[in-house]
Amino acid sequence: MGFVLAAAGSAVGLGNIWKFPYITGENGGGAFVLVYLLCILLVGVPVMIAEILLGRATKASPVSAYRSQSRPGSPWVGIGVLGVLAAYLLLSYYSAVAGWAMHYTYLSVTNEIAGSSPEQVQGLFAALTASVPTGLGWQFAFLLLTFGVVAAGVTHGIERWARIMMPSLLVLMLVLLGKAMTMDGWGEGIEFLFGMRTDNLTAGGVLEALGHAFFTLSLGMGSMITYGSYLSSKDDLASASLLTAGTDTLVALLASMVVFPIAFTFALEPGAGPGLIFVTIPTALAQMAGGSILSIVFFVMLVFAALTSAIAIFEVVTAYLVDDFGLSRNKACVTGGLAVVLIGVPPSVSAVWFDRVDYFVSNWALPLGGLGIAVFVAWKMNAALRRGEFESGSRLAKFYRTWLWILKYPVPACIVVVFLHAVGLV
Ligand code: TRP
Repeated sequence: MGFVLAAAGSAVGLGNIWKFPYITGENGGGAFVLVYLLCILLVGVPVMIAEILLGRATKASPVSAYRSQSRPGSPWVGIGVLGVLAAYLLLSYYSAVAGWAMHYTYLSVTNEIAGSSPEQVQGLFAALTASVPTGLGWQFAFLLLTFGVVAAGVTHGIERWARIMMPSLLVLMLVLLGKAMTMDGWGEGIEFLFGMRTDNLTAGGVLEALGHAFFTLSLGMGSMITYGSYLSSKDDLASASLLTAGTDTLVALLASMVVFPIAFTFALEPGAGPGLIFVTIPTALAQMAGGSILSIVFFVMLVFAALTSAIAIFEVVTAYLVDDFGLSRNKACVTGGLAVVLIGVPPSVSAVWFDRVDYFVSNWALPLGGLGIAVFVAWKMNAALRRGEFESGSRLAKFYRTWLWILKYPVPACIVVVFLHAVGLV
């Protein structure tokens, strides 16, 4: 249970509440959601089991885990290094969005949202993205918070907090869902999400659904290897993975079931892009009794969810600097932190850069990393060790062959076909 809460704390983040609704909106809902769910189940879960398993088997940090399972100088170590690069780039814009959430916490506390009309709420987001200093200021504040937590060695304290925050976030989403159900746009919102309109689905949309499955489950950069290394041989790895993926998917679906009814009720554009939740949720809360308090609670929780994820992403970078460059943990935090601050500037300055770096990380780097992990664990890793790890402590031990088969054939095939399809080759 402790493991699931920690892993879910890493997985549940901006990906669920900010990104999933907005890319669903951009891709026309319905069919995109179905493809996404298939990607989670058929690709995400098997890869998550592989990553956690590799971590538990090697008790090592991401890059070292590959090294310990291959010959010196082996190119497999490159998958780990690609993961570090992805983590570094991901943090550069993840922190920008987390900064937006901090800005909205501030707006909620200073009571600037309550009573605003939908146009005024849209104006707040436009003003934020138009002011580079405001965006950068909050982004740096968020990064300082992240590095502070890591440097002060209070990560475990934060994880303990996350155990309270995560269930509270779920309760808050249910409260908001209750409100969304009473809105005029409820039916239209739900039909948008779950109705089948395949005409909207493009090759780019399928690539995005696959990429987001990796993004939201924190896969493809070796982060779950770290979590796996904390697991004992008595823990049930496959069940824990399923539960983590299930919780993560539930939060994403709940968030969308709140966002789209609001969008249709107030005639907001579902395909509005990265600002979608920052416009829809405050619009509804501005009109609601007790909305000011709920708004503070919502954005504080969003910042918190982003923080637990950012800590885990930053860990991939620092562990690499410690293991491969022999830096002390403190030096690694400072060096890694400065490097992230530098690479964090462009996404806050240019929306085009923001889109490109997200596109590259989510849709190419993470699935490529996931492909590497799947092939490595399925084809390269010591078979006896792999089987022992899968079965140890597991109620799902009898599914070993099924899992291995999925990891050997359908997972790599899906990723490769989606890649080729996206560049127009098949
Ligand atoms: N899953 C996180 C989210 O949905 C983002 C993320 C991607 C992540 N890769 C990660 C978090 C690695 C922690 C570790 O917001």
